Amino acid sequence: MTDPHFANIKACVFDAYGTLFDVHSAVGSMKSRVGDQAISLSTLWRTKQLEYTWLRSLMGRYDDFWQVTGEALDYALAAHSIEDNSLRRALMEAYLGLDCYPEVPAVLGALNRAGIPCLILSNGSPSMLEDAVRNAGLSDLIQETLSVDALGCYKPDPRVYQLALNTLGVEPTAISFQSSNGWDGVGAAAFGFNVAWINRFGQQREHLPAAGKPIALTDLTQLLPLLGLSGLD
Ligand code: LAC
Repeated sequence: MTDPHFANIKACVFDAYGTLFDVHSAVGSMKSRVGDQAISLSTLWRTKQLEYTWLRSLMGRYDDFWQVTGEALDYALAAHSIEDNSLRRALMEAYLGLDCYPEVPAVLGALNRAGIPCLILSNGSPSMLEDAVRNAGLSDLIQETLSVDALGCYKPDPRVYQLALNTLGVEPTAISFQSSNGWDGVGAAAFGFNVAWINRFGQQREHLPAAGKPIALTDLTQLLPLLGLSGLD
């Protein structure tokens, strides 16, 4: 499926957490220690992490994503009546070595071979993102990693999407932005990017301005034909 809006793409910009990296692989790697609360703990950790970015934005109180991630984990652990400092440390450490989704290296490889630059634009702090990219073996496939930390605000503040434009020096329509987070895709579409919403989790479309614009894909392999490239075998 090619889309005319994606015909003149000069760069692919990817959200990190949930899109390239499986945020649930941190708790998943400690399943034996967490027990049957694992899915519930991981889900609440992620939910609180995002909520805290939005709430901090409204409060005008920025702290970096590493701190926010730790505070969200503290909430989630307390909500599950888990008091275990060594588990907390291990989970935070695991967040620096999240698995990437299985199709990610091949898709990034195909984009690289087609001469399309691949960037990350993420809430993550620079050192978190550096570790995540390196530990997932993606360093040679990502040309640049952009963090909101340079701005001191979180997605979906338009200044975040502007950062990609300032870096690339192109029009918003020259960017294909990929996110599995529906609200992030909507923020990017409202800003003017072409958006591929990688709806890995079968979620409903958001009811927000520009929510109808993102093209919904089930995983990143579908991005290649969308851009007019041949798919993976
Ligand atoms: C990020 C969050 C939104 O990587 O997943 O920016």
